[in-house]
Amino acid sequence: MGAFFTASALGTLAVLGLLAGVEYGAVPVPLRSPPARPGERMGEPPAGSLPFAFDGRFDSRNAALRGAARWFEADGVAGVETVAVAPNGTLALIGERGEVWIADAAGADGFAPPRRIARLPPGRPLGAVFDADGAVVAALAPVGLFRISAGGGAERIAAASKVGARSEIAPGADLGFTNDMDIGSDGVIYYSHSTHVGPFEMPDGRWNALESVYTSLGAARPSGLLLRHDPATGATTALTGGLWFANGVALSKGEDFVVVADSIQAKLLRHWLRGPRRGETDTFAANLPGPPDGVSRASDGGFWVAIYGRYPPVMNLAAHRLVRAAVALTPPRLRPPTPPRGLVLKLSEAGGVEFALEDPDGSVVRGVTSAVEAPDGRLWLGSLHEKGVQALDLPQPLRALRTAGGPDAEAAGRLVRRLEARRAAAVGSARAAAQAARRGAGADAEEAGGHTEL
Ligand SMILES: *[C@@H]1O[C@H](CO)[C@@H](O)[C@H](O)[C@H]1NC(C)=O
Repeated sequence: MGAFFTASALGTLAVLGLLAGVEYGAVPVPLRSPPARPGERMGEPPAGSLPFAFDGRFDSRNAALRGAARWFEADGVAGVETVAVAPNGTLALIGERGEVWIADAAGADGFAPPRRIARLPPGRPLGAVFDADGAVVAALAPVGLFRISAGGGAERIAAASKVGARSEIAPGADLGFTNDMDIGSDGVIYYSHSTHVGPFEMPDGRWNALESVYTSLGAARPSGLLLRHDPATGATTALTGGLWFANGVALSKGEDFVVVADSIQAKLLRHWLRGPRRGETDTFAANLPGPPDGVSRASDGGFWVAIYGRYPPVMNLAAHRLVRAAVALTPPRLRPPTPPRGLVLKLSEAGGVEFALEDPDGSVVRGVTSAVEAPDGRLWLGSLHEKGVQALDLPQPLRALRTAGGPDAEAAGRLVRRLEARRAAAVGSARAAAQAARRGAGADAEEAGGHTEL
């Protein structure tokens, strides 16, 4: 007995010692590879970067996002992270297996069946936009940026896959994890490189880019970058660095600044391209109610921000190495599921949240990775895992909401109420139609001489 107690007391002490060693950094913690590189260990975060301390509170106020319709599911389109919209309404859709489809606007509200024009090499397609020549510029992690011509030729933009030697920030860094981009009127591409922890191929041939978020938190070596690539000169420069997980990118209407999302820090940064603050980076919006993913410019000059899922409350304890170790090392199948939700924020040009479009329980729309406004007023919603793509018909182009005096909260409230009323009417008429169909089926049975038993 005595020996048993001594052994178990020693065992307990050893476990406590190990935990303390992890917490205080005395015990090296190897990260899972993949997604980490072999041999990569948990690191120490830059001073002052933790804790994150977001309050994560967001009281749901509407279910307007539930009015979204699903498109192109029957065409086999799936896992489209971002919908690229051309000025004439043509869509480019890049699926989770690298298929590139083009859907031309046709008829009053419709689209021609999507045509498959290309297939990208293995990787996870992320952001995509049309350039001025009608080609699609797309990010493929962990490979880099591609340019896909209207004819279907897909060419890697090799010069955008490494930071130039003359860049002040991260010279020579490899840029595999390209994620989102916007293109200036001068053709310059602004884009993000999320983290040095790349995505990896799963046994079914799809690529997992989500685990990189957790592993990056463990690595605590914020390596995300905002970049500028000039196709005219081939020069690639890092504009700002130190992001934990760089994501959505969008230029302001006047191209005087560019916004980049940091998903792990739940914030958007603003990098000034012109004016007295040129070259500076500041906070554009912080303490967002979940990880920001895609960012795009709205027709009124503000921004649409897709919020992917929710923040586990444990993120506020990330200053503890033990917590970072637990988050980074938990295998995906053992991770507690986050309740689904659909959430898109509309921000003003100054970074204030004007309104949110929500599906509080994710029953129709969940896991939104991008929201892109089309000229016809449709808001296209991308997602990593959903079939087809979803779109919400805004009752009017957003720019019509903005009064001369600036953002109009009342108009925003009216927009959300109209979306909800339309949704309720659609649900009501669907119920009525189902009831009518049931009555009709009963009548048919009676006509045929059968008995209707209820
Ligand atoms: C619409 O624009 C795209 C991209 O520039 C182009 O490829 C397509 O041909 C255009 N469609 C029509 C009908 O003009």
